[in-house]
Amino acid sequence: MKINPLRGTHDLFGEEIKKFNRVVSEVKDTAQRFGFNELMTPILESSELFKKPLGEQSDVVLKEMYTFNDRNEEEITLRPEYTTPMIRAAISNGLLNNLPFKVFGTGQMFRRERPQKGRYRQFNQINFENFGTDDFFADIEIINLANTLLKKLIPDIEIFLHINSLGTRENLNKYKKILSKFFNDNINLLSKESIDKINTNPLRILDSKNIEDKEIIVKSPKLLEFISKKDLNIYEEIKKCLTDLDIPIFEDYNLVRGLDYYCNTVFEFKTNELGSQDTLIGGGRYNGLIKTLGGKDIPGVGWAGGIERIMLLMPNISNKNKDIHIAILDPGFRNHAIKIYDFLVKNNFSVCWNYKYNLKKSLSLANEKKANFIIIVGENETKNNNFSLKNLINGKQVIIDFNNILDHLI
Ligand code: HAM
Repeated sequence: MKINPLRGTHDLFGEEIKKFNRVVSEVKDTAQRFGFNELMTPILESSELFKKPLGEQSDVVLKEMYTFNDRNEEEITLRPEYTTPMIRAAISNGLLNNLPFKVFGTGQMFRRERPQKGRYRQFNQINFENFGTDDFFADIEIINLANTLLKKLIPDIEIFLHINSLGTRENLNKYKKILSKFFNDNINLLSKESIDKINTNPLRILDSKNIEDKEIIVKSPKLLEFISKKDLNIYEEIKKCLTDLDIPIFEDYNLVRGLDYYCNTVFEFKTNELGSQDTLIGGGRYNGLIKTLGGKDIPGVGWAGGIERIMLLMPNISNKNKDIHIAILDPGFRNHAIKIYDFLVKNNFSVCWNYKYNLKKSLSLANEKKANFIIIVGENETKNNNFSLKNLINGKQVIIDFNNILDHLI
């Protein structure tokens, strides 16, 4: 019997797991520097958590959620995103008393999409959220955090920050009505897919990739005309500050994002290197969402990034050459070799021996793994209670013992 991984899922090993761990460790490091606290929530949640907040007409809710009935008939969903579970967890655990509450997490998400490069059914997200402040500096801080993280992980890749403002939720609702009317008036110029969205989700027509839609979209009423002067000023301040931080921005008036909960600032970090799945990070403000989920009426802003998409762009992780290989020339010398093995692991080195008891094979493995050093344990070394240390970069070999080994390795 041969069982393959399910479509859109993958195993992580070798270079991939190294990259994955590098992302997670860089995320934790960056989070600490920006003052975000880690939060981990269950993968299984009640389906109710997602339906309304994400938009009952959004693609994620309509087509992509893995939802099933538990044995007690309770409807359960494998989380498709992390913002709503994080809010749920903050409310459930009374974490919203001291505001702002800044949280982050990494974990698996599930969406039943058509799999392709950079798009999977089980994937990992990085998620950063700031609950409880309307200060637009929180938007700048969280965008700057995303930019800092991407520059660390993929320093050689050109990334573009697309940004837009949706205005307040009230303005947005007004705009949606006007947009629905406009598209209804021009219904025979739209694609079938967009017609289905006219009355339920007209904003999503704006980022349609369909060519016939694009012609009519250009003529549609512009959201910016519906945004208040105050909100426009804030948007200007945000753009100016990001430019001062050397984050080049690309104003994208059609950027509306796929989930229903956004208002005011929305943004995406994109790249030209990934084909159609070109968004590495997406997020924005979601004032009103925390209240919808049963919490206080406090604002929020955040983003999520796809770990697998970032990994596709990362360089291979170079061996830090902290590995020390040991060549044991005969099984009879193992008792002596185990002493140096133990000493090295206790001093934070990783140790490799290949159980071959053959100098040539041990050297060839050490060279293949690009190790800097090999320790040779033979008859003389065992008799004299010392070890031979060969530097594989310059070829020099010296006799060492426990008193001076670290001087040679560090
Ligand atoms: P999202 O745009 O749905 O936003 O997803 C964020 C990121 O997750 C995407 O930009 C992409 O990198 C990655 N991603 C999404 N779907 C897949 C997939 N099928 N395969 C691989 N990667 C994928 C959200 O999830 C919001 N919760 C973001 C947010 C946080 N907004 C405010 N706070």
